[in-house]
Amino acid sequence: MADKKIILTGDRPTGQLHLGHFVGALRQRVELQNSKEFDKIYIMIADSQAMTDNAKNPQKVQENVLEVLKDYIAIGIDPKKCTIFLQSSVAELTELTFYYCNLVTLARLQRNPTVKTEISQKNMQKSLPVGFLIYPISQAADITAFDATCVPVGEDQMPVIEQCREIVHTFNNTYGQTLVMPSGRVELNKKYRRLKGLDGSSKMSKSLGNTIYLNESSESLKQKVMSMYTDPNHLKVSDPGNVKNNMVFEYLDVFCKEEHFTKYLPEYKNLKKLKNHYERGGLGDVKIKVFLYNVLEELIAPIRQKRASLSGKEDELLKLLSEGTRVAREHAAATVKRVKKAMGLYLV
Ligand code: TRP
Repeated sequence: MADKKIILTGDRPTGQLHLGHFVGALRQRVELQNSKEFDKIYIMIADSQAMTDNAKNPQKVQENVLEVLKDYIAIGIDPKKCTIFLQSSVAELTELTFYYCNLVTLARLQRNPTVKTEISQKNMQKSLPVGFLIYPISQAADITAFDATCVPVGEDQMPVIEQCREIVHTFNNTYGQTLVMPSGRVELNKKYRRLKGLDGSSKMSKSLGNTIYLNESSESLKQKVMSMYTDPNHLKVSDPGNVKNNMVFEYLDVFCKEEHFTKYLPEYKNLKKLKNHYERGGLGDVKIKVFLYNVLEELIAPIRQKRASLSGKEDELLKLLSEGTRVAREHAAATVKRVKKAMGLYLV
């Protein structure tokens, strides 16, 4: 275990993954996977965590397990290089959670900024499930069970990783050096960290209905791009336009490369030239939107195709998940043993 570089990360299966996930987290995972820097990579479909705010809607969680798995494979996560597993089938994670609960105060949980934001977004102030409040503890169990050194997450999850680090610190101080201290890792390029929604709101999110899915059909992609928020004062083509807070330009900043101009819009050399024209006036929204559509279609088409090739293969996918889960369970069981020993519990 010592000195190994191990990644653990995951997603709640509550819906299909979208471009916001891709930009903020998924793309980075594929890079890390291919970097060969890591001894082991675990990717967890966090169905137990998804239950913490979907207890009355379990079929939504169940239905999305395979959807998320398909998304993973379609974007290039390779099950030969990564162990993909299902959280609820690793009971050891629940066991660790129960022990870690004793090392965290209620006040500390209530202060976690990520959880606070989610509680208000989901209107859970009046009836907050205990399980949801303590999901950072269960996440600490997920991370430490696999001796993870590196936890790639979206920016908004960083306070949860911070809380995990506190738990590791407290555990090791109380019972002796047992758990590996993890570090969170966000997308290194700031520009890519958070993709705004189609409507210009601060985040692309399923609940806000402003998303582009990774398997969006070509027609629906076009429709969505055509409806994107631009500059409300840019009424006539001849009007000067604003590229700031203009979603088409914000997306082009993230997704377009110079070669896209050669292919789809050869009258401009690069994004700077396109922006200059827009700001001067004389460039209409339809033209920039069609260009963005082409750029995104080039990215999404292969993902959509790969994803389509997986439909009907549910049995194979479940087998893959079950094999990954078996490997994960073995690792987690070894950690639980170590943890119990450190705490001075009998192993009978
Ligand atoms: N909280 C993550 C999400 O919202 C999912 C998750 C569960 C996770 N356990 C984790 C992420 C451990 C990283 C590490 O999608």
